[in-house]
Amino acid sequence: MKITFQPSGREVQPPQGATVLEAMRLAGLTPDAPCGGGGTCGKCGVYVDGVRRLACQTPVRPGMTVHVPAAGGHVIQETGVGGEAELDPLRPEARFHAAVDIGTTTIVCHLLDGRTGAVLATAGALNPQRAFGADVISRIRAALDGNMEALTAAVRGELSALLAGLCREAGAAPEELGAVAVVGNPCMQQLFLGRSPANLASPPFAPVLTRREVLPARDYIAAAPEASLLIAPDIAGYIGADTVGCILAAGLHQSDRLTLVVDIGTNGEMVLGNRHGMTACAAAAGPALEGASISCGMRGAAGAVDRVWLEEEGVRFSVIGGGAPEGICGSGLIDLAAVLLESGAVDRRGRLRTAEQCPRMAPHLTEDGTGRCFTLCGGVRLTQEDIREVQLAKGAIAAGIELMARSLDVALEEIDRVLLAGAFGSFIRKESACAIGLLPPELLDRIETMGNAAASGSRMIALSREAFRQSEELCRQVRGLHLESVPGFSRCFARHTWF
Ligand code: FES
Repeated sequence: MKITFQPSGREVQPPQGATVLEAMRLAGLTPDAPCGGGGTCGKCGVYVDGVRRLACQTPVRPGMTVHVPAAGGHVIQETGVGGEAELDPLRPEARFHAAVDIGTTTIVCHLLDGRTGAVLATAGALNPQRAFGADVISRIRAALDGNMEALTAAVRGELSALLAGLCREAGAAPEELGAVAVVGNPCMQQLFLGRSPANLASPPFAPVLTRREVLPARDYIAAAPEASLLIAPDIAGYIGADTVGCILAAGLHQSDRLTLVVDIGTNGEMVLGNRHGMTACAAAAGPALEGASISCGMRGAAGAVDRVWLEEEGVRFSVIGGGAPEGICGSGLIDLAAVLLESGAVDRRGRLRTAEQCPRMAPHLTEDGTGRCFTLCGGVRLTQEDIREVQLAKGAIAAGIELMARSLDVALEEIDRVLLAGAFGSFIRKESACAIGLLPPELLDRIETMGNAAASGSRMIALSREAFRQSEELCRQVRGLHLESVPGFSRCFARHTWF
């Protein structure tokens, strides 16, 4: 049985009973499939005979032609600040090195000058594993369901392509690469290395990568035939080398200032501390804050509402690319939640009010067979269920911050600075994040953004043997907090789901 994908013209022969989503993966296409094919997120739309269908719910049939809509240009946070280390690479003779951050959503790669440590070129791409689900849990499930090889091949292939492109851009030969440092969360690293993430599927979530490792890169990345692959270890099964990278880049381990680093991605990884002690946790924020589990949610790409604010005349918004709004991305979502709260369109419990209860927002407040919703414009709207998702996500992060402070026996007001890492942290408005209680309002004036801190840490590891050594030491020093096991977590979480 043969089916064809347009506009790429790719053809595959999927097995009987396969879905269009499975056929797309076979064809090497990387559709958005945040729920991993569960039929619940509605994001895997394709066109069959001119009708939009969910790829994961549509069985293939012989001779079928499937039209795949364009993915749009996503905004990828490639650069980060901080992260200076003495130049002392493991392979001092090499002319070039590379630093990689494998995120659940995006992969970022820097090509580095071996003599100066300067970043010569940077590239980013969406993680092709997203065809198996948006979050770590769906990737683990997919790996354990027999897709391990496909997941590993997908990330290695993309990384290799990125690295080859960077070498071409900078006039470097792949053979001249000396060290390639890779950080990521435990699941991303294990999938990249081809090691089963079974340890992450159930308690005690023991980490597999407990020591730093130096491996021949050629076994993992075709575009780095002579390089050494540097793998930084994980702090815990749920806190990975990307968090180690953030600590290195922020210099927590060398500073007296009590610092909170929040990396809000598909997972909310956070660290609190200074050189006298550090604790870290991963909050199961889910993909809501990246727009994945929101009915009108989308990533930060052209067509996404990325800013929402309130003026005397009503609600205003901006759209990435300036065209018609197609959905709302994470930063727009946090803004909109803050606007709903400020205007009284939702109460503290997150319940949408009716047009009669909130006349100011009456034109936006509607109700249909599925319940109440807030329509921003056209088809972009937030349902009561969407607001619930935002509450769960922000509740998980806020609870994580409170419990980390408690474990270090410090009050939130004692925190000297808050560093927002990652793409999402770079684009959210801190005022909105504080207004809805995602971040502690008392720290509003101490919030700074630091871009892709994990990639900055990876760069330090590639360039400095000392930083690579410290990555292992940090794993022993930082106390990993498994939030669900902390006494009082449920109550703390429930309290923080309120606005
Ligand atoms: Fe198809 Fe989510 S609905 S992947």
